[in-house]
Amino acid sequence: MTWREPFAELAGTTAVVTGAARGIGLAIATVLHEVGLTVVLVDRDADELDRALAGFSGGRAVPVTADLTTEEGHDGIDAALREQPPLSVWVNNAGTVSHQLAEDVDQATFEQVLRTNTWSAVRGSQTAFRHMQHDGSRAIVTITSLVVDKTVRERLSYAASKAALTSTTRYAAAEWGASGIRVNAVSPGYIETRLTAWPADDPRQVAKQESLRSIPLARFGQPEDIASAVLFLASPLSSYVTGVTLFVDGGWSLT
Ligand SMILES: NC(=O)c1ccc[n+]([C@@H]2O[C@H](COP(=O)([O-])OP(=O)(O)OC[C@H]3O[C@@H](n4cnc5c(N)ncnc54)[C@H](O)[C@@H]3O)[C@@H](O)[C@H]2O)c1
Repeated sequence: MTWREPFAELAGTTAVVTGAARGIGLAIATVLHEVGLTVVLVDRDADELDRALAGFSGGRAVPVTADLTTEEGHDGIDAALREQPPLSVWVNNAGTVSHQLAEDVDQATFEQVLRTNTWSAVRGSQTAFRHMQHDGSRAIVTITSLVVDKTVRERLSYAASKAALTSTTRYAAAEWGASGIRVNAVSPGYIETRLTAWPADDPRQVAKQESLRSIPLARFGQPEDIASAVLFLASPLSSYVTGVTLFVDGGWSLT
């Protein structure tokens, strides 16, 4: 193997990235497109998806407007995939967050966060599994969160939804390994996206700035930091890696 080969093997195949209209998902889609894959960008926000597509040149970018909490949304992705080259990469990135103190968490919010973050990834991975019945490189990567391993105020529902993804990643990796499908996760620390952009006087922004003092690499992450980790786990460079969670957090989990 030459060091160029892993990406050459992916070129001409298809990747699905959920929540790809902005932030981390858009950065992941951009990197996969750059190394030559057809990228199916899935998001529920059609306008944002349109704006994102303007940044892709040379074709090979396929938008699918879908709400991943619905079965119709998953049917739409399935239909789009039938028109594309073989699926080699599926990235479960779409996510939502809620901010509630533990004593205030209500059932509707808790269930909505789990449906969006956990069920949509499990359901999406099932679609991936069905479309990955070929002999090439195949990898599923799921975006979890550092809040699984480090408690952050007002994130009970979000942390529960992401902690479940650590288990679903391990179970799918164990069951699908024999089929040659690798399943891994990336756990981002504080990444600068709209999800973590609050006004300066917002208590969450104050806490975010305070957290900078305990991040060993002394900066917040950028979406591209996550995209490069996903590229590693998506490519044959990591062909003997499955069931792991790769922390991409500037060392924050160490403190
Ligand atoms: N930004 C961070 O610091 C950070 C840290 C840890 C983990 N994460 C995780 O990374 C992922 C991306 O985060 P981000 O900061 O880019 O967020 P973001 O809010 O900027 O983007 C999320 C995207 O997902 C889409 N989406 C949400 N629910 C959807 C649904 N039901 N169906 C289809 N699309 C849906 C949104 O429309 C949006 O485009 C999320 O899973 C998030 O939990 C982010």
